[in-house]
Amino acid sequence: MRLNGKKFFIQTFGCQMNLNDSEQVASLLLREGASQAESPRDSDFILINTCAVREKSVEKLFSYLGRLKEQKADRGSVIACLGCVAQLYREELLSKFPYLDLVVGPAQYEELPLLLSDSWRRPAALTRWRKDWAELPIVPVVRESQVSAYITVMEGCNNFCTFCVVPFTRGREKYRPLRAIREEAGQLAEAGYLEIQLLGQNVNSYRDPESGAGLAELLENIAEIDQIKWLRFLTSHPKNFSLEMARAMVSNKKVCHQLHLPVQSGSNQVLSRMNRNYSREDYLEKIGWLKSLMPDISLSTDIIVGFPGETDDDFRQTMELIELVQYTNIFSFRYSPRPLTRAARLKDDVPPKVKIERLIELQKRQKEIQLKLNKTMIGQKQKVLALGPSKRGNLYTGRNEAYQVVNFSARSEVRPGFVQVKITAGGAYSLLAEASA
Ligand code: SAH
Ligand code: SF4
Ligand code: F3S
Repeated sequence: MRLNGKKFFIQTFGCQMNLNDSEQVASLLLREGASQAESPRDSDFILINTCAVREKSVEKLFSYLGRLKEQKADRGSVIACLGCVAQLYREELLSKFPYLDLVVGPAQYEELPLLLSDSWRRPAALTRWRKDWAELPIVPVVRESQVSAYITVMEGCNNFCTFCVVPFTRGREKYRPLRAIREEAGQLAEAGYLEIQLLGQNVNSYRDPESGAGLAELLENIAEIDQIKWLRFLTSHPKNFSLEMARAMVSNKKVCHQLHLPVQSGSNQVLSRMNRNYSREDYLEKIGWLKSLMPDISLSTDIIVGFPGETDDDFRQTMELIELVQYTNIFSFRYSPRPLTRAARLKDDVPPKVKIERLIELQKRQKEIQLKLNKTMIGQKQKVLALGPSKRGNLYTGRNEAYQVVNFSARSEVRPGFVQVKITAGGAYSLLAEASA
């Protein structure tokens, strides 16, 4: 127990994988005798898990790190920067923020107990790559929910979309052995979990390093666990999403009829400059299969506006595409150049004002689409996975199979788990409901 009596605080930015990684890190430190602090103010170790995907993510982090300087002076806490920014900027971070003690990339979290112990000489930057899979088991208390859990099944990406920094922060694809995933799923089921979301940058390319089994077989395997009722997986790359996978979603009764399929742009010229390796037509064909196999499917996507060279006409094609698909939800971003990426060598020629205008127009239209779709749900009976009390009012919050937020009232106390509700109102970003007695 190298960290007995010490307190730590973890601040997490970025995607679900970072959240899952933070749970792994917290578990590691707890097992070494440390305990979790309520705030950075009363902690011996402050760990910041970071995201480098957009310029804004890094700006936000730098301002957060700037504010930690006082903390360092007051209490002398050890400050460690983890995650994708750590992997990308390495030693540079130590010179930019001289009060940082550690910079540790995602492949070296295992070593954190040693790095944080009194015997380690700091400052230090550790950003080695690794080829094999490191198992860092999660202790149940650090999970955010008691009913819905993430399981990381692969990490890294071989796709090299020209805008994306992730291949440089997470390295090449690495796959977790199926038996380890099954074991974690089994433990979660024992602990009462009902929903599992499989995580990876490019989950459709999953291959069990031992048997060669793919994602569909992995989902089949987990579906055998009785107590697990809902399965989801993200993120799927449209290039790797096959008809077989769509069929597997239908035949596996536990896989939710919901899919996040990032399109990025509706224009073939832009898609080609992004190196996405599919056309607008390919993408729409896949959406066609999905909708014919699962008429109730809920689709979401990511869209970038203002990619270098994006013309008004290119943007119109993105607007048309969201009209055709009728997504339940989209995540949309203004393009920003990222270090080491190929697109960073292109001229970032869409003026900031145009990027904002396009983003606003896209989000405004999508909001109308969502509002319209959600209004049609009023009166429907739905199954919801209740997660806990809602932040607003005397309501509970949960998610339906479509992965939409459902806030609902109930006559008696609702514990996390499945409830039947009746939808009473539909906003653009969430549904309102009543629990059936
Ligand atoms: N592995 C996932 C996504 C990772 S990043 C995938 O393949 O979809 C999440 C989203 O951030 C991307 O889908 C993209 O829409 C956006 N994004 C990535 N790099 C960006 C950049 N340089 N500028 C703006 N948005 C970006
Ligand atoms: Fe980035 Fe493309 Fe890989 Fe997704 S598929 S992580 S966008 S390089
Ligand atoms: Fe960000 Fe890294 Fe995730 S760059 S989106 S935290 S993989």
